[in-house]
Amino acid sequence: MKTKVWSVDKNVDNLQSYPQITESAGLLKADQVVAFPTETVYGLGANAKSDEAVKKVFEAKGRPSDNPLIVHIASEGQLEDIVEDIPEQARRLMAEFWPGPLTLILRRKPGKLSNFVTAGLDTVAVRMPDHQVALGIIRASDLPIAAPSANTSGKPSPTSAKHVEDDLLGRIAGIVDGGTTGVGVESTVLDCTVEVPIILRPGGVTLEQLKAVIGAVQQDVALKNQDTAPKAPGMKYTHYAPKAPLYLVKGQPAFLQRLVDEKRRDGLKVGIITALEHEAEYIADYVVVPGSLAQLHTVAAGLYDALRQFDELDVDIIFSESFPESGIGAAVMNRLEKAAGHQIIDEKHV
Ligand code: TXA
Ligand code: MG
Repeated sequence: MKTKVWSVDKNVDNLQSYPQITESAGLLKADQVVAFPTETVYGLGANAKSDEAVKKVFEAKGRPSDNPLIVHIASEGQLEDIVEDIPEQARRLMAEFWPGPLTLILRRKPGKLSNFVTAGLDTVAVRMPDHQVALGIIRASDLPIAAPSANTSGKPSPTSAKHVEDDLLGRIAGIVDGGTTGVGVESTVLDCTVEVPIILRPGGVTLEQLKAVIGAVQQDVALKNQDTAPKAPGMKYTHYAPKAPLYLVKGQPAFLQRLVDEKRRDGLKVGIITALEHEAEYIADYVVVPGSLAQLHTVAAGLYDALRQFDELDVDIIFSESFPESGIGAAVMNRLEKAAGHQIIDEKHV
């Protein structure tokens, strides 16, 4: 399949009438799949009402069919069409954080969406992205758009059109290149079908921000306990992993450097993921810096590009520093733990 690639300036409002947007929306209306940027990561969009379109998303990504997709909308009207019983708390969160990186799990209205979107569940994940290109495409198509991250299943999510091309060129109808995404990690997934909402996946909107609006918020215990099945089906799969084994290190830079030295003495090529503030403390074959501790959101923004870089480098093993788990750091650490397959080396326990 030939993949058409369009470029568009993400800073322009009311993009609906631009040819890049009308053409890509036209493909979505014709049940083709098209990748486009959102404020978090690139999404792989399809008409959420069409079985045929949604099946193409699962095929292109190699995604297990039991892992439901997020439906992206651009208006409240589109929301009311597909869900019922919107709890008061969910309404307050929408008023505060939409458009933005917060996905709400709500009860779905029967018969409105392809069953493949929801993997047979009676709930649906919905969000309104805060990105002019995404909103323009949804408006121009006049459809709810099902969109998982636009990566091959298991790989880090794409934060640039190049990442999407690396994974999906030739497998999808189109890619809308709107530059690099802003947040860098995916949306927070919050189950609003229970009395005290539960974070199923930490992301762009933080626990602290949610609590400030609705008070009590729980976190899925499976996020910290690997013996429990996660409530978001997608969270049980290996994800974000670079090709070389990755170890997450808790401890001081000197401890991490000793681990590196040991492996290099064995003849291995070693990579490090570190914060800007510690960059000068390390000697390794490759030192990759996603961002700075003083501005943790920069680490989130650069994390997936850092992980993907190692696949292009000649590296046998990767050690990553740990980051503070407050604010957006919770999402960063969740992704690093998954990328490491939960292989954690703690200075206190060696
Ligand atoms: O930022 C994002 O959320 C990006 C952009 C493209 O919007 N999308 C994204 O989609 O990350 P995806 O498919 O990679 O992740 C969706 C997550 C999965 O873990 C999935 O299992 C969960 O949301 N999910 C979807 N529907 C659900 C439902 N009804 N109940 C529980 N979890 C659900
Ligand atoms: Mg994903």
